[in-house]
This record gives sequence, C-alpha cells and structure tokens, in this order.
Amino acid sequence: MAQTLYFSILLIALCSLSECIQRRYHHINMKKNWTEAQRYCREKYTDLATVNNMNDMNQLMKRINHSLLMSSNDVFVWIGLMRSSVHEWKWSLGDPVKYTNWSNGGSNGPVDCVYMRDGSWHHQSCNTNMRFICYNESSKRFIIDGSSVSWRDAQRFCRQHHTDLTSVRNQTENQQIQKIMNDTNISEVWIGLFSDSWEWSDESNSTFRYWGLNQPNKNGSSEDCTAVRMKEQGQMHDLSCSSYLTFVCHEDNLILIQMNLSWSEALRYCRENHVDLVSVDSEEIQFMVTKVIHQSSTEAVWMGLHYYCQMNLWIWIRGDDVCYQNWAPGNGTKLMNCNTEHRAGAVQSGGDHLWISRPQSHKLNFICSRY
Ligand SMILES: *[C@@H]1O[C@H](CO)[C@@H](O)[C@H](O)[C@H]1NC(C)=O
Ligand SMILES: *[C@@H]1O[C@H](CO)[C@@H](O)[C@H](O)[C@H]1NC(C)=O
Ligand SMILES: *[C@@H]1O[C@H](CO)[C@@H](O)[C@H](O)[C@H]1NC(C)=O
Ligand SMILES: *[C@@H]1O[C@H](CO)[C@@H](O)[C@H](O)[C@H]1NC(C)=O
Ligand SMILES: *[C@@H]1O[C@H](CO)[C@@H](O)[C@H](O)[C@H]1NC(C)=O
Ligand SMILES: *[C@@H]1O[C@H](CO)[C@@H](O)[C@H](O)[C@H]1NC(C)=O
Ligand SMILES: *[C@@H]1O[C@H](CO)[C@@H](O)[C@H](O)[C@H]1NC(C)=O
Ligand SMILES: *[C@@H]1O[C@H](CO)[C@@H](O)[C@H](O)[C@H]1NC(C)=O
Repeated sequence: MAQTLYFSILLIALCSLSECIQRRYHHINMKKNWTEAQRYCREKYTDLATVNNMNDMNQLMKRINHSLLMSSNDVFVWIGLMRSSVHEWKWSLGDPVKYTNWSNGGSNGPVDCVYMRDGSWHHQSCNTNMRFICYNESSKRFIIDGSSVSWRDAQRFCRQHHTDLTSVRNQTENQQIQKIMNDTNISEVWIGLFSDSWEWSDESNSTFRYWGLNQPNKNGSSEDCTAVRMKEQGQMHDLSCSSYLTFVCHEDNLILIQMNLSWSEALRYCRENHVDLVSVDSEEIQFMVTKVIHQSSTEAVWMGLHYYCQMNLWIWIRGDDVCYQNWAPGNGTKLMNCNTEHRAGAVQSGGDHLWISRPQSHKLNFICSRY
C-alpha cells in the first residue's frame, strides 16, 4: 500500500503540466523558408506546429528560445498555418459545420462572419460592430454579454469571459438563441461562424486563429504563410512564404488508427508502421489516450495489454507489469480458461475511458505509439 502510494506520488511528480500533453512543440533554431521548414518538421517530427487553443499557444511560446523572446529585433517564427484557395465556413469552437440556417443559401467565398436575425443567418464584414452571443461550456448556457463590437473582439471577449463565440448545432439550439434574443430585445448577434481559407499543414481541423491587429493583411502582395510574432505574445501574422525564419514543429506521440483489426493484427500494424501498441503505464499516458480516442469509430480501442497465460497475469507487451491501472469493475481479473480464451485490454472510447477485457479476435480501432 505504502509502495503504491509512493509510486502514485512519483508519477504525479514526474508528470509536470508541460509533459502532460500529447503534443510536444520543438522550436528549431535554424532559418528556413516555410516549405523547407515544413519538410524538416515532417522528417524529424510530425509537422509544422498546429495550435488548437490558447493553452497550446502558451505551450508553444514557452518552447521558443528565450533569447528570441528577449530580442530587441522584431522576431517572427513559422507555424503550420497556410492560405489555401478554398474558403470554408468554420465554427470558432471547431465543431463540424453540419446544421445551417442561411437566409439566402449561404453563398461561399468572402472572408466574412455570420450573425443571426429572426433566427436566420446572414454574413457580413467581420469589422461590423454588433452584439454577440457567447457559449459557456461549464454552465452549458448561451449568453449575450458585452457591447457592440467587431466579430474578432466578440470572439476575444467570449474566450476571456466564457468559452467562445457560440456554435449553433441544431434547430433546437437555434430556437433557444432566438428566444434569448427576443427576451432581451436584441435583433442581431454575431455567432461563432466565420469563413476563411487558412489550413493547417497537418490537415487538422483546428479553427484556432490568433491574428494580430489588422492581420492577415497580405501586405500588398501574397503572404500565404503564418508566423507568430514574439513582440505580441505570439499573435499571428501572414508573411511571404519565402521569408527565412526559425520555426516550431510539433510531435504527436500517440496516434489513433481507425481500422478495425484484431488485437494481434493491430500489434503487427503498429510495429510495422510506428513503434508499438500503446502501453498505458501512467496517468500521463492515460491522459494522452483520452485526447486521441474521441475520434474512434468503435466503442473501445486496443492498447498493448494482454493476458499472458504462462505467468497467469495481465502484462504490457513491452514486458512491464501493470502498475498503474484503470480497469472497469469486474475486468482485469485472472482468467481460468486462459489457454482457450485469448484476451487483451482495450480502453473505452466514451465515459471515463476505463479499461475492459475483450477476446483478442474482436475487431477494434487501436492506438500506436510513435516514440
Ligand atoms: C460560466 O459557467 C460557470 C459554471 O456555471 C460559472 O462559474 C461562470 O461564472 C460562468 N461564466 C460567466 C462569465 O458567466
Ligand atoms: C442539439 O445539439 C446539442 C449539442 O450537440 C445536443 O445536446 C442536443 O441534444 C441537440 N438537440 C437535438 C434536438 O438534436
Ligand atoms: C417575443 O417576445 C414577445 C414579448 O416580448 C412575445 O410576445 C413574442 O411572442 C416573442 N416572439 C417569439 C418568436 O418568441
Ligand atoms: C425593443 O426594441 C424596439 C426597437 O429597438 C423598441 O421599439 C421596443 O420598445 C423595445 N421593446 C422592449 C420591450 O424593450
Ligand atoms: C476534419 O473534418 C473532416 C470533415 O468534417 C473529417 O472528415 C476529418 O476526419 C477531420 N479530420 C480530423 C483530423 O479531425
Ligand atoms: C510589407 O512588405 C515589404 C516588402 O515587400 C516589407 O519591407 C514590409 O516590412 C512589409 N510590411 C509589413 C507590415 O509586413
Ligand atoms: C469499424 O467498426 C465500427 C463499429 O462496428 C463501424 O462503425 C466502422 O464503420 C468500422 N470502420 C471501418 C473502417 O470498417
Ligand atoms: C467489464 O467492464 C464492462 C464495462 O463496465 C462491464 O460491462 C463488464 O461486465 C465487465 N466485465 C466483467 C467480467 O465484469
């Protein structure tokens, strides 16, 4: 018992906040143009940096060479955001755009932002001032707050005081917002929908943008790549892709494979294409697992845990004992008929992501480790 306690404390101590994230940023202190930087990151790590939220942004800034932060020069550092030719509607919160309620069919194209009037959606220049509606994730409420401002200022306000500008995910939510507007006698509000043509190098759907004032500005010609500016706590600027800058790569350790394979097929796949099936031997790794698992198409996903008959115990494929564990009640017990019943460990895709024991022949998604 004392030993278990000691072990837990040790794990917590080892798992400082910066290491507890599944994505590691690496600042590369060499000057390259954007395309060369992208190639370098893809070879050595995962890709040029993607940023999902303000938390990531802060982590990224911490990784940047201190001398650059202190530099009196106006220093910019590449990240993985680039201009494409396709304009798309995106929710500020990153939800997929499924439900829409356009007043006029929602023509695509312009770099515009969306407001609601009488329950239907219209788009307009993002610089227009109007009231706006935030979403508060912890209270699950839509809130009209603040004064009449541009869409970006509205977004900044919502991120600061609530969660973000609201998404409207179905007709029920549309009606709820309509009712709030009616109750407060406000006829037009910004919602979290915007259109832009920026994409992340790793094709992630992150809709996080942190543009500096009046950015992106193209500066007369083509500025199709994005850098963060040290002087402005990492606010983003568009720059010409041929500029030579230092850059930030990211490295994802765990990768969810959305194929339905038996446990031994999954193990082979990971070993051939990555490193191994994941060993969830600490709370830190369990946390990383929960970050990638939500995209899975099966109710549980394989990890590198199996029942080893000769020793009559559960063991990680790397050979380690199962110290940290997160079994669902009734699972993870000794097997009586081990030689006929081959079982392995999976982690539930939903709920508390507890571990369950499954016959190895079941076909599930799985998680490989990359380092
Ligand atoms: C958001 O919701 C949480 C939980 O209900 C609450 O504590 C917080 O004050 C709310 N934020 C605002 C600004 O209303
Ligand atoms: C609308 O979307 C919210 C959020 O996804 C969900 O909780 C709610 O059940 C949905 N309502 C309907 C009627 O689909
Ligand atoms: C809006 O509010 C008024 C009262 O302020 C009410 O009479 C009316 O029915 C409401 N309309 C809708 C669409 O909710
Ligand atoms: C709602 O706003 C309209 C126009 O701004 C105004 O004429 C009306 O008196 C307001 N109604 C209430 C109940 O405040
Ligand atoms: C991004 O969104 C597209 C379309 O909604 C989806 O097919 C794809 O799986 C998403 N990619 C990631 C990495 O979430
Ligand atoms: C705009 O581009 C020119 C060179 O084309 C450069 O000298 C200038 O610093 C740029 N201005 C900004 C604000 O990026
Ligand atoms: C894997 O299985 C799930 C659940 O049975 C199914 O929804 C999904 O489409 C399957 N995926 C593939 C790639 O076959
Ligand atoms: C393992 O956990 C799952 C999910 O909680 C539960 O449904 C199942 O009955 C458990 N298995 C055993 C053998 O108790």
